[in-house]
Amino acid sequence: MADLPHRRWFEFFLQYLPNKPTWIGELFCGPAAMAHEAARRGYRAIALDREKSFLVRGNSLCADARALPLADSVLTGAIATNSSLNYLNDTRDLALHLCEVARVLEARGVYVFDTCPHERALALDGYTHNALESTVKISHTYDSRQKKLMSRVALKNNQITEVHPQRIFSDTELRTAAKIAGFRILEREPNYALPTTQIVAPVTTWVLARNGGDSTPRARAK
Ligand SMILES: C[S@@+](CC[C@H](N)C(=O)[O-])C[C@H]1O[C@@H](n2cnc3c(N)ncnc32)[C@H](O)[C@@H]1O
Repeated sequence: MADLPHRRWFEFFLQYLPNKPTWIGELFCGPAAMAHEAARRGYRAIALDREKSFLVRGNSLCADARALPLADSVLTGAIATNSSLNYLNDTRDLALHLCEVARVLEARGVYVFDTCPHERALALDGYTHNALESTVKISHTYDSRQKKLMSRVALKNNQITEVHPQRIFSDTELRTAAKIAGFRILEREPNYALPTTQIVAPVTTWVLARNGGDSTPRARAK
């Protein structure tokens, strides 16, 4: 975790907020690095994940991303990192999720997230690597016909293993779901606009703005 550029991801997100945020939400938060970064900078932040074990610090809620326990229009911005939307099962769940995010965002509020595209899933197929100082081994297999990437996470001694199924969504599936939910796509670019020279196939970062006003990103007006 220490090698992930959390601050730079958060700064990428910040530049698109349409105004001084009321609340920022981190969805699929896991250890909630973005919510902690927001709080560190003095913003009000709430972190949500369906796994209770992650929700130990700060403002947090145990919640399914397809049914958010938040009132309408309460967030100015939402963020989800590390290909979290790929944990949604299918296009129906993707649509439910994006409609929920649109509901809880204020007009012109933004949702920034990254996804694992088909090219990255292909590059990961058959690949095994170590993480967390080699205490964890992660191996991937990709079924491109089913659009399913399976990541097997094992402690080095193999006593504990988990399989993480991820649905790889196409650009068209993401664009269609975003449009139906009432979003405009402000940006779609590799790796939070950070350098990609060392990365075979980077994640795709999406910046969506909820319809309902003139939503020009402050730092990147085109
Ligand atoms: C790849 S992890 C990313 C965690 C965190 N965003 C990060 O960058 O470290 C995906 C997270 O999504 C959560 N998750 C998966 N499906 C979910 C759902 N339907 N609703 C809420 N959380 C979900 C998992 O519990 C997990 O914490």
